[in-house]
Amino acid sequence: MLAIRSIAAPARRQCLRANGVAMLSSLQTRTYAAGASTHEKVAKFHGKKGSDGLYTVSLIEGDGIGPEIAQSVKDIFKAANTPIKWEPVDVTPRLKDGKTVIPDETIESIERNKVALKGPLATPIGKGHVSLNLTLRRTFNLFANVRPCRSIAGFKTPYDGVDTVLIRENTEGEYSGIEHVVVDGVVQSIKLITREASERVCKYAFQYAEEIGKLKVRAVHKATIMKMSDGLFLSTAQRVAKDFPAVEFDAELIDNTCLKIVTDPTPYNDKVLVMPNLYGDILSDTCAGLIGGLGLTPSANIGDECSIFEAVHGSAPDIAGKGLANPTALLLSSIMMLRHMGLEEQAVRIEKAIFETLAEGKTLTGDLHGTAKTHEYAGAIISRL
Ligand SMILES: NC(=O)c1ccc[n+]([C@@H]2O[C@H](COP(=O)([O-])OP(=O)(O)OC[C@H]3O[C@@H](n4cnc5c(N)ncnc54)[C@H](O)[C@@H]3O)[C@@H](O)[C@H]2O)c1
Repeated sequence: MLAIRSIAAPARRQCLRANGVAMLSSLQTRTYAAGASTHEKVAKFHGKKGSDGLYTVSLIEGDGIGPEIAQSVKDIFKAANTPIKWEPVDVTPRLKDGKTVIPDETIESIERNKVALKGPLATPIGKGHVSLNLTLRRTFNLFANVRPCRSIAGFKTPYDGVDTVLIRENTEGEYSGIEHVVVDGVVQSIKLITREASERVCKYAFQYAEEIGKLKVRAVHKATIMKMSDGLFLSTAQRVAKDFPAVEFDAELIDNTCLKIVTDPTPYNDKVLVMPNLYGDILSDTCAGLIGGLGLTPSANIGDECSIFEAVHGSAPDIAGKGLANPTALLLSSIMMLRHMGLEEQAVRIEKAIFETLAEGKTLTGDLHGTAKTHEYAGAIISRL
């Protein structure tokens, strides 16, 4: 099913470029597995334990500092007796029919295990293969990008007590890749919004809000200007809200949100924000800035069948191989993964050890103004488990 989707999506894009009529008929046939009944859970984890009592998780260690920070996660999970075994997979891109694809074995591994943890992947600028991060999102139809940002005790930033959760639609909007030259000097980029994709991400946002006990969802939009596209996203969110009477719903213009969240982020602590792709991209990094940057920020890319958890920072080539990297973001992403898999007890235990180590402030890596090496920081966490 995944393979069909990954082939079908570029084919649809061709239609969009070539012919507006074909575009509409193509979109009308677009279907999503999650479009079922209201109370059916979107993106539920369907993985099963093996006969050894362990879940298998596909592990993409990534480039640059990736292997170093992945090692910390492996060491800490082992010390915490987490019922997980890792299946390392390679995402070195291959060219197939002129398109960048990831190896079949990797796709099969993630499809089989339903879950993957991913380190950072370097993207060539202006040439070479397309972003592998984008390729993974498209291949597995990872429709929701979940970005929590929580202040870390012991790491002082201009704001205290930040605890935001942002959910970004991950498959369409301004990132549909539909661009063309109209005439020389005039280009057009199409922002694609569909009811199905909006409904799915909004439904996930409401379910996530219920799961984490933040019983308010706010849709962030610019429907005053983009009346049709953002208008559809907003009206869909309003309709989905009716199916979740226990969760309060409201909406806010993206420019208002930006102003208010950097003035005082704390009123956003009790809410889950949900929004189209580009707004989510920008606002999620803004929120990361509120808590001290990307180095401490986890994320989840959620799909109906598989989900991939990743740190949001890059491969940090300037410090790679020196044992200086901070593994916190990948660790916190792996905690989100444990929760997604229903391993709450292990998640709480490891998370507590991480936050205590950070709050104590004695064994911090250089980016947090400490002098510890990556393995020393991981060791300090292990000693608290
Ligand atoms: N999700 C991803 O895989 C992802 C995200 C962003 C960038 N990238 C790729 O990573 C490469 C490098 O990108 P960049 O330099 O713009 O951003 P970067 O995040 O790799 O680095 C920015 C700065 O932050 C520091 N840093 C980042 N992560 C750190 C960590 N865990 N511990 C300590 N310091 C850390 C780096 O040393 C550097 O000074 C590029 O090829 C880019 O495309 C990948």
